Amino acid sequence: DIFPGRKNSAGIDLSDPLVLEPLQERLAALDDRHWTAEPTFMSGAEAEIAPINKPHDLSAEVGTRRDTLDFEVEEAITRAEAIQPGWDRLGGEKRAMLLEAAADLFEEHTDEFLSLCQREAGKTLLDAVLELREAVDFLRFYANEARRQFTRPIPLPGPTGEENRLSLHGRGVFACISPWNFPLAIFIGTPAAALAAGNTVVAKPAEQTPLIAALAVRLCHEAGIPEEAFQLLPGAGEVGEMITSDPRIAGVAFTGSTQTAQAINRGLAAREGPIATLIAETGGQNAMIVDSTALPEQVTRDVVSSAFQSAGQRCSALRVLYIQDDVYDEMLQMIRGGFEALSIGNPEHLATDVGPVIDPDAKSSLERHVARRKKGGLPVWRRRLHRGANAGCFVAPTIIEMDSILDLKRENFGPILHVVRYKAADLERVIEDINATGFGLTMGLHSRNDDTRAFVESRIKVGNFYVNRNQIGAVVESQPFGGEGLSGTGPKAGGPHYVQRFATERVVSIDT
Ligand code: SER
Repeated sequence: DIFPGRKNSAGIDLSDPLVLEPLQERLAALDDRHWTAEPTFMSGAEAEIAPINKPHDLSAEVGTRRDTLDFEVEEAITRAEAIQPGWDRLGGEKRAMLLEAAADLFEEHTDEFLSLCQREAGKTLLDAVLELREAVDFLRFYANEARRQFTRPIPLPGPTGEENRLSLHGRGVFACISPWNFPLAIFIGTPAAALAAGNTVVAKPAEQTPLIAALAVRLCHEAGIPEEAFQLLPGAGEVGEMITSDPRIAGVAFTGSTQTAQAINRGLAAREGPIATLIAETGGQNAMIVDSTALPEQVTRDVVSSAFQSAGQRCSALRVLYIQDDVYDEMLQMIRGGFEALSIGNPEHLATDVGPVIDPDAKSSLERHVARRKKGGLPVWRRRLHRGANAGCFVAPTIIEMDSILDLKRENFGPILHVVRYKAADLERVIEDINATGFGLTMGLHSRNDDTRAFVESRIKVGNFYVNRNQIGAVVESQPFGGEGLSGTGPKAGGPHYVQRFATERVVSIDT
C-alpha cells in the first residue's frame, strides 16, 4: 500500500431524507446569490464584464466574469515567478498541509459549491456531489503525494564512497487551463498537483464556468496558500493564449479539445525560453462492446449511465455501443426502455437525470450532428423535450444506429449514443476500428467470457478499460484517469505518477 491511511471523501448520502431535505432548503436559500469572478490581482483599468447565465435558463444570471487584461496576465506571471523558489523551498510537508487545509475548507463550503455546480454548470445534484467529492479527493491525494515524494531526497548508490541523492522540485510557473464540464474537480485538480510539486500556478478556468473556480481559489487563499502562488485569470480563449505564449511559463496542464491541445503544443514549440512541459487530457471516441454472454439488466443500467449521465458531457462518456448481432434487437430494446425512462429537465429539480448542455454553441453543434445522421437513413430515436426547454440549452437524448465507429469524424460531446451491430467473428476488426479512431480514453466491455475479456484487454489502446460496469466516474487513486494518442499525453490524474510530471529532478553528488 503506497498510500497508507489516506481515504477518499465520504460524499453526501442523498438517499437519506435527514440529509437531503435540509440540504435542499439550504440550496434554495442560495438561489439568488450573485457571484463574481475576477483576476486575483486586478488593476483599476476597465475590462470586459461578461454575464454568466444558467445553461438551463439563459435569462437567469448567476454572476459576472471580469476578464483579465493583457498587462495583468504579464504581471500575474511576474508575481508567480518571483514567489516560486520560496514556495518550492517550503517543502512537501508544508505544501501538503496547506492543500489539506484547502480540502477541509471546500467541505465546509459544500452548499455554495453544490449551488454553483447546479446553477453555473447545469449539473444535477448527484453530479454536483460527485464533483465536489472528486475535487476534495484530488486536493488530499496530491497533498499526500507532496508528502510522499517531496519531503526527503531519494538516496542513490555511491560506489566510490560519495553521497548521491535525487530530489524533486517545481519547474517554475505552471499554466493550468481547465474545461467547463468539471468546473471544480478538474479546475482544482491540476493546480493542486502543480502546487504540490513546488510550482506556482496561473489558472484560467473555462469562460463558461469562472464563478465556481473563483470560489475555489478564494478558499485556497483562505487556507494559507499565498495569493501570488495560485492566481485566477478569468477570460476567454485569448487569455489562455496570452498565458501559454509567455516564455516564462515552465509547463502547461490543459484539459479540453484535442485541437486546442495541439495548438498549445505548437505555440510552446515556437516560443522562446525554456522547453515547456505539456500535460494534456483531451477528447475521446469511447466505445463499449456487449457480447451475447452479457447480462441485459446490467448492460442497460451501465449503458444509460455511461451515455446520458451528465448529459453525456464527460470525456469518459460512452459514444459508440457495439452489440453482438445474436442479442442486438433484444438488448437495444431494453436500452431504449431505460432511455425512455430518463427524466430530462431543470437540473435543480431532484428528479432530473439529464440536464442541459453547456451553451447554445454546444447545442447547435450537437443538433447539426443529429440532422446529418438522420439523412443517413438508419434509425434515430430522440426523446421529447419538456415544456419550457427552449429557455435553456437542452438537447433531447438521442440514440442513432450506425455501421461503424469510423463513420464518426469527431467527438460529439452530449447526450447522443451511437449503436453498431457486430458479428462475433468480427470482434478483432471491431477492436481495430476502435483503435483506428486514434483516440484512447475509455472503453467498456460487457461479457461473462474470460477469454473474450483477455482478448479485448490485450488489444485495446485506451487509458481506462471498464468491464461489466459503467465507464464513467473514475475514482481518485482507484481508477487513475487519462488517455493516450489523441486523448492525451498522460500521466493519469489521481494516480501515483501524476505529480512527478509537474516536477523537475535534481541530483546532488558529494564527495568526501
Ligand atoms: N474523470 C471523469 C470520469 O471518469 C471524466 O471526465 O468520468
